[in-house]
Amino acid sequence: MNKWIKMSMGMLLAASLISGCGKDGSTTNTTEGNAGAAKTLTLGTSADFPPYEFHKIVEGKDTIVGFDIDIAKEIASDMGAELVIKDLPFDSLLNELSSGRVDMVISGLSPTPDRAKQIDLSDIYYKAEQAVVVREADKDKFSTMDTLKGAKIGIQTGSIQEDIAKGIEGAKLTSLAKISDIVLQLQSNRVDASIMEGPVAKSFVKNVKGLTITDAKPQVEDDGYVIGVKKGNSELLTQINKTLGELNSAGKIEEYVTKASDLAVSK
Ligand code: ARG
Repeated sequence: MNKWIKMSMGMLLAASLISGCGKDGSTTNTTEGNAGAAKTLTLGTSADFPPYEFHKIVEGKDTIVGFDIDIAKEIASDMGAELVIKDLPFDSLLNELSSGRVDMVISGLSPTPDRAKQIDLSDIYYKAEQAVVVREADKDKFSTMDTLKGAKIGIQTGSIQEDIAKGIEGAKLTSLAKISDIVLQLQSNRVDASIMEGPVAKSFVKNVKGLTITDAKPQVEDDGYVIGVKKGNSELLTQINKTLGELNSAGKIEEYVTKASDLAVSK
């Protein structure tokens, strides 16, 4: 083989090795003695969900922030691990866990009996109510759950809101991967209502013109949020519950929620 071709192939290889590690600053790969690469903890989340997890330009850089992310950082730091964040479609998260591509899911995840069969769930770390979001002009039209009968409703694929909407008689459902796309559908009159977590609804109506929250109150069986790990990963689950317990008793979670809610509406 020609010397130049060989040399440039070598350079290409070196370049791909360099770019392969620490590409987004998420992995450090520091080696201490024979300990090998630094321990990482990979979080799977669907970052379309302010104030839980969302994208924000921080110091000129696209960053995933939110109170779920603050909790994830605490868990990683308690484990002495480097946190790696993977932004994935909400309806793929449980499979990503089961296949071991992510170590934990923190994504405003509501506990359900079906989910508990597929993955292991932590203690509840926060609670919030559900809300119905509509265009301002329709606020009174959709003031109770009954008035949603036969309505065009947009919801996130694989969410508990999808189940709530399926239970509404005659409702025509549009399931989409991202909450932001549902908001666009609402703005462009393609759907008339959406069901989402109260804190998410609040942050969207503050940021998006022409939308509001109605008085309708969707009911769910368990209104708390949990962290998911792969079935049988009791070591990580114990660590997670320990960190959650400490954060809760120090009042930290409320603090993170307030901070993230402010961040979600600030420009
Ligand atoms: N709490 C709902 C559920 O578990 C919705 C969660 C959606 N989360 C997200 N990051 N988009 O189904």
